[in-house]
Amino acid sequence: MVRSETDDVAVNPGARPESASFIQAHMRLAPALFLPEIRLYAAHPASGLRRLVDPHRAGGDPPPYWAYHWAGGAALARYILDRPATAAGVRVLDLGAGSGVVGIAAAIAGARTVLAADIDRNAIAAIGLNAAANGVTITAVEDDLTAGPPPEMDLIAVGDLFYEQGLATRVTAFLGRCVAAGVRVLIGDPGRAYLPHARLRLLAEYPIPDFGDAKDAATKRSAVFSFE
Ligand SMILES: C[S@@+](CC[C@H](N)C(=O)[O-])C[C@H]1O[C@@H](n2cnc3c(N)ncnc32)[C@H](O)[C@@H]1O
Repeated sequence: MVRSETDDVAVNPGARPESASFIQAHMRLAPALFLPEIRLYAAHPASGLRRLVDPHRAGGDPPPYWAYHWAGGAALARYILDRPATAAGVRVLDLGAGSGVVGIAAAIAGARTVLAADIDRNAIAAIGLNAAANGVTITAVEDDLTAGPPPEMDLIAVGDLFYEQGLATRVTAFLGRCVAAGVRVLIGDPGRAYLPHARLRLLAEYPIPDFGDAKDAATKRSAVFSFE
């Protein structure tokens, strides 16, 4: 017999709930900040997201970044929606996809295929729900592609992935291999500490403040770069 995580909750109230059912029951579908064309499942104070984190899982579940707005992803999604030719007709990888907002923008812009990759299984569930809510098709994979060779893609779109030094080092090396293999790489970022400035060319700036950035929010900007 195959047991589901939902069965586990029924027999053990402390068990981790199944991701997609939890998201639908405890989060709200709402227009994304700065992206009124896109609706995403968003967390609110009563969502209780920590119930999705399994304390017994080896290594633990990552923080639920997929449940929140990130300025880098919003800027890159805005850029793609405003310039659909960026993604139209091409194979797009949304790396570190979180909610899948960048991949959804690429799909709306007419991408041939969209693959969204994240290391968080809850993000994979959220991407499926968010894609369906926006009427687009995205393949979501729970994997760290940065360790592997350049994928068979035309465009890699990276929203807000330079917030930790080790991660940024791996992502920068991976993107370098991808560019050398002929893949176009775009990055959306609010100016994180480990952004590889020496390899970036500024394409656009937006008055988009970061998640939780109340102080000086009106003057905060986020940018879209080409990685070269
Ligand atoms: C700050 S969030 C940004 C999410 C989304 N790109 C956006 O801008 O809204 C970073 C995401 O990258 C994911 N992540 C971290 N390391 C990763 C890796 N090595 N491969 C794929 N995803 C990763 C996290 O789980 C998280 O969902």
